[in-house]
Order: sequence, then C-alpha cells, then structure tokens
Amino acid sequence: MMTTGVDQRLAEIVEAVIAGLRDVIKVHHITNEEWHAALAFLTEVGQNDEFILLSDVMRLSVLVDELSHPDAGGTTPNVLGPFWRPAPLLDNPGVLVPEDEPGERLVLDGMVRTEAGEPIEGAEIDFWQCNADGLYDVQLPNDEPRYRGRLRTGGDGRYQIDTIVPPPYEIKKDGPVGRLLERLGRHAWRPAHIHCKAEAQDRRPLTTMLFIEGDPWLGDDTIGADKPSLVLALDRRGSPTRATFDIVMAAA
Ligand code: BEZ
Ligand code: FE
Repeated sequence: MMTTGVDQRLAEIVEAVIAGLRDVIKVHHITNEEWHAALAFLTEVGQNDEFILLSDVMRLSVLVDELSHPDAGGTTPNVLGPFWRPAPLLDNPGVLVPEDEPGERLVLDGMVRTEAGEPIEGAEIDFWQCNADGLYDVQLPNDEPRYRGRLRTGGDGRYQIDTIVPPPYEIKKDGPVGRLLERLGRHAWRPAHIHCKAEAQDRRPLTTMLFIEGDPWLGDDTIGADKPSLVLALDRRGSPTRATFDIVMAAA
C-alpha cells in the first residue's frame, strides 16, 4: 500500500527518541510511580511555559544552536535567550544604560568587520543586558525599553556603547525547572553577559553574547553558553572601565 505524506525525518527522530527512552526505562528499571511523576513534571513544565527553560538548563538549546551554525568564521554565535525585544535606534556612540543607573560604568567599543579586517559600514548591532540588580527591562513593572538599543556603523565600522558591567544573575527558579535544578544539586546562575545581534548586507546575521572576564560563574553557566572566545577583557586602570571587542561577521 502506498503511504503518502509520511514525514520520514520526523519518523526517524521519534523512533530514535523512543528507543533512547526505552533504554533508560529498562536500564534504570523505571517504576510506574517514577514514570507518572515524570509525566506529571512535564505536564507542569508545559502549564508553566517552561519547556524552553528546560531545554536551556539541559544545555540542549546551546547544542542545537551550535549545530545550526556550522563554523563559518567570524565571532562565535550563541543563543538568543528569552529577553530580546525590539529596541530603539541609538546614536553611535550610544548610551545603553544611563549615568543615573547604579553599576560600574563600562565603555564597550570595537569594530564590526570582516575576517580580513575590513570595516563593515551600515551594520546594525542590537545590544541588550540586565541592570545592576540582574533584571532585564521586561522583568520590571514599567514596560518601556531600557538597557537595550540598536546602533549603526559608519564607514569606519566602529561602535561604542556607554553602559554598566552587568552582574551575573539567576534564571527563573520558582517553577518546576527550578525545583528540578535543586533536586539535581544544580544552581541557576548565568555568568554576567551582554547580548548582541548584528546584521549587515552580504553577511551572515549573528546572534551572540559577550561575557565579563573574572565572573565567578564562567565555566559553570547553568545553560552552558559560556564560550571562552566571547569573554571580554576589562581594562580597569581608569574610570570608566573599558573593553574592546570586534564583531566579526562572516560572509553570507
Ligand atoms: C539569557 O541569557 O538572557 C537567558 C538565556 C537562557 C535562559 C534564561 C536567560
Ligand atoms: Fe541574558
């Protein structure tokens, strides 16, 4: 009999997932109680809209993201995370976090460039980060965009943002995923980072995040996104603190 419309890839993947689960069930002699507890947990994860968070802390989001971006040269990509929102266009240099906000002042600058070192004109870079309390604007009562903005590069490819050194923060831990982390003896900390997205003509779009040198959670990011090539070196010899990072965009 001819079967039409079968999704072979889906069928293969479902079969592989089920084979893996059957192995786990057999090897660990999973009981009825344990299986139903697992199903109840997943139900609660869904009810609390935490499936993405579960994928994050199981470090599956980072793995899928890595496989989706085979090395094409350029700055190492990273996951978008849950806090990206459309941001206002700023001047370049631009103020991401205003002076009246608490936190260690940081000037981050660099060049948006090709791998050969040529500046990329007209690139749009979108930065977002948390405040000194480890909160993104979307986690604050007032809905206006804060601690985020887009900049465009001129002919020299350069960008500069005036901001603060973000602190490390804990991801949501008051739901089923947080409970799981606790039972596994795992923490919910992410090392301090500034998110960044870049787009330019004839270049691959880039999503990444830049980490802060010396952060205690570097090497132990709960979502496993802390990549050594994305760590900013801070120059604290003067005030403000300074860091330079070139955003290298691979050819499309
Ligand atoms: C973030 O970096 O903003 C983030 C990523 C994954 C889970 C929670 C937060
Ligand atoms: Fe973040």
